Amino acid sequence: MVEVVKLEFKGKIYEFPIISGTEGDMAIDIRGLRKKTGLITYDPGLANTGVCKSKITYLDGEKGILRYRGYPIEELAEKSTFVETAYLLINGELPTEEELKNFSIKLNDHSLVHEDMREFFENFPRRAHPMGILSSMVTALREFYPELKEGGKEEINTTFARLLSKVRTMAAMAYKISRGHKVVYPRHDLSYCANFLNMMFDSPVKPYIIDDDVVRALNVFWILHADHEQNCSTAAVRLVGSAKVNIYAAISAGISALWGPLHGGANQAVIEMLREIYESGGDPKPFIEKAKDKNNPFRLMGFGHRIYKTYDPREKIMKKLCHKILDKFKIDDPLLDVAKKLEELAVKDPYFQEKRLYPNVDFYSGIFLRAIGIPENMFTVMFAIGRLPGWLAQWKESMEDPHNRLYRPRQLYIGPSERKYISIEKRGKLTTTESA
Ligand code: SDX
Repeated sequence: MVEVVKLEFKGKIYEFPIISGTEGDMAIDIRGLRKKTGLITYDPGLANTGVCKSKITYLDGEKGILRYRGYPIEELAEKSTFVETAYLLINGELPTEEELKNFSIKLNDHSLVHEDMREFFENFPRRAHPMGILSSMVTALREFYPELKEGGKEEINTTFARLLSKVRTMAAMAYKISRGHKVVYPRHDLSYCANFLNMMFDSPVKPYIIDDDVVRALNVFWILHADHEQNCSTAAVRLVGSAKVNIYAAISAGISALWGPLHGGANQAVIEMLREIYESGGDPKPFIEKAKDKNNPFRLMGFGHRIYKTYDPREKIMKKLCHKILDKFKIDDPLLDVAKKLEELAVKDPYFQEKRLYPNVDFYSGIFLRAIGIPENMFTVMFAIGRLPGWLAQWKESMEDPHNRLYRPRQLYIGPSERKYISIEKRGKLTTTESA
């Protein structure tokens, strides 16, 4: 027996079915709403609106649960690698040894970037933000590599491997070229994460020593960022992808959405905020008060979340990662002390308690990235590399979804009613009633 919701409107009763998810989450299926009633829904930010059914990631914002394909984030962070997690998100199952080996080989086979693309990097201003460079270069990839045609399994896997591998290479290239340093090429003998670190930090005068703990920590960092159901940038990938544009353009849209300080750009904004607190004497209280002031647009960066109304499960793991790396290299980062003080005060503050605002994944991630030598303007690029497998998995799922349609939201028009054109001679001279 299908449960329904009844809507009474202008003396008529309309019924809409309730549909349920695996974990008991429920939705009103309103696909026939406008046809039946002439009504649309109004939901700025889509906070109450499901745009798809998905098998990829499950979040419970009340309990702080995050699972990729049913596997808890805590288990994956402890036992998996980023490449294995990317395979899981994209294919739905953990890979066998053979599948993982073949996937890693494919990633290595597609790790180089076409030499003609180097000029693009070299012609950006040195101070160009790497997120702008990355989104441009990913769109440009379409001109160097074939578009998906039939979309068969092999073709999709190759295109996905190409993006996963080249985006990582391009990120390191953007960094090296922006500093006027020699580009370091990927190596077949290094793992995905070790390759990235080597491309970023190896130099002709000082070879980069690959540290297993740093490689492991980077795997965990990227596992934590790999997917997060219908977040802003994933929704952008699905929306742009719904127009059946090439996948490179859809992913580039995701990179652009992630850049925003309310979304992935928060990890860079957190560090800038912590530094401001430190340089103003280290007392977070004035910043907390500023964040609570309705008339002040300042928000506590790294705090709050549309879904999590308790601790973001990723934040706890990120915090441990910070301590592990800072302790290993005996780094005493004053911004960590500021962050801990800020967290302590904010979570006890009634404003944050009432609004259920807790630290999110971005709050400590910058401290970790600083500790392994990533420059601040690359923080959101690090988020993008991590989120790429999620975007690819979600794009694939939307392309395979029989219910997927072109995203074309409705609106409630509140502008002027019909009115007559006014010649330029008469403009500004008529009284308002005449011009209406
Ligand atoms: C990510 O969606 C995802 O899953 C994203 C992400 C992922 O993995 O993809 O988890 C990654 O983007 C994490 C979020 C990173 N952004 C920040 O840290 C920026 C700071 N946070 C806020 O801007 C805010 O919390 C958002 C944008 C994250 C969420 O905003 P919502 O859901 O639209 O909530 P809201 O703006 O409606 O806030 C509800 C209330 C408001 O007060 P009232 O109007 O009810 O009086 O809480 C207040 C807000 O003013 N509020 C904050 C606050 N966040 C919300 N007040 C002060 N500081 C904050 N950080």
